[in-house]
Amino acid sequence: MGKENFNSKIGAILAAAGSAVGLGNIWRFPTEAGNNGGAAFLLIYVGFMLLLGVPIMVSEFVIGRHSQSSVSQSFYKMSGGKKAWKLMGLIPVISGFLVLSYYAVIAGWTLFYAYQAGIDGFAGKTPDEIGADFQLFRTDAVSPLIWIAIILIVNCMIVALGVEKGIERGAKIMMPLLFVFILVLVVCSFSLPGASAGLQFLFHPDFSKVTGATLLNAMGQAFFSLSVGLCCLCTYATYFKKDVNLMKDGVHVATIDTLVAVCAGLIIFPAVFSISGLTPTEGPSLVFVTLPNVFHQAFGAYPVVAYCFSLLFYLLLVMAALTSSISMLEMVVAYFHHEHKVSRPLASIGITAVCLILGIICSFSFGIWEDITIFGLGFFDLFDFIVAKLIMPIGGLLICVFLGWIVDEKVLHDEITNMGTLRAPYYKVYRFIIRYLAPICILLIFINQFL
Ligand code: PHE
Repeated sequence: MGKENFNSKIGAILAAAGSAVGLGNIWRFPTEAGNNGGAAFLLIYVGFMLLLGVPIMVSEFVIGRHSQSSVSQSFYKMSGGKKAWKLMGLIPVISGFLVLSYYAVIAGWTLFYAYQAGIDGFAGKTPDEIGADFQLFRTDAVSPLIWIAIILIVNCMIVALGVEKGIERGAKIMMPLLFVFILVLVVCSFSLPGASAGLQFLFHPDFSKVTGATLLNAMGQAFFSLSVGLCCLCTYATYFKKDVNLMKDGVHVATIDTLVAVCAGLIIFPAVFSISGLTPTEGPSLVFVTLPNVFHQAFGAYPVVAYCFSLLFYLLLVMAALTSSISMLEMVVAYFHHEHKVSRPLASIGITAVCLILGIICSFSFGIWEDITIFGLGFFDLFDFIVAKLIMPIGGLLICVFLGWIVDEKVLHDEITNMGTLRAPYYKVYRFIIRYLAPICILLIFINQFL
């Protein structure tokens, strides 16, 4: 494999954090927390992050850095040349196409919203008008496609530039900006009257609302949010240098990811609660219908603040979506580049073109193809179901089984301790989790989804 690397340790962490921090944190987390009782959900979600998410993320790092190969080769090599594992390694490649296609649809919406915020398109609109506009936009046959295409093209250009000049540089620019935006937005949101009700919702758990479904939703959210199970992080880890401390990096990335999710809650819930009559249980439309209206009502007395707040918020979403999409595309590009010797730019363009076509199909499922369903699901929901509910849990499970049971333990120990040069006090706990705890938990979610 022609060796490309992340040039710095911080670049490696920011790139992995860029993959993890995405629409999952800022769009999906508040939605799930809103629907699952707030604080109790947050606690359970953080528990799953620590217990399952971090160990699986570290496992992806181990596989990637040790094998120094694209996904399917990684499993093949590390299993000692077993064909079945090579085939298994193709699953992430196929899912890479699917996940990027439907993720780009929502990413495209966020870009359209950033544009709307930029031209002050929400000002003076009633909640009903904003809701109706959103419905009109997403069901339209043409306009969403333009935004999806822009997102995919920018994504393609960054990946085509390469690991250091494209992905690492992109993460080094976008991630710090994202952190600054988040801080500004949290401060603004805190200054709203009634913000304390939002904090109460997010930090005072009411466990009476916790059901089996809450547990499962929290676990699914932890996986999606950390990007584990699809091997995007395996690919990134092939670019880690030998002195990167995999366990520590895993903990850092998960911490950043969790903090961003909590901050998204800190931005959104005080804003929602500051307006009487609104509840945080609006579901997926929370970010696209409730919030534009919330921002303008909440900061009604200061139109400039309202304008800046919504613009920053949607730009934040766009950047978060972009750094995650980059990791999705890179996993597939690395496969074609290294295994089939397709040049990086050509692979990026080809895969982007396929994803654009699939993305268009997903987008149509909100409008002109609304009636076309497979197993009762439109294309968008079908892709989401296949990726988030089938492939991510199965992928996480296989990664644990692979490293816990198939690969020689010495490989695992050497990678975690950097050939014995690092102390790894939690190594035994980690190994216990990937051998027993994680596979059993994942199997439980998985079975539950099909019962
Ligand atoms: N973790 C990303 C998010 O929170 C989504 C993602 C899933 C990215 C799978 C890569 C792989 O939005």
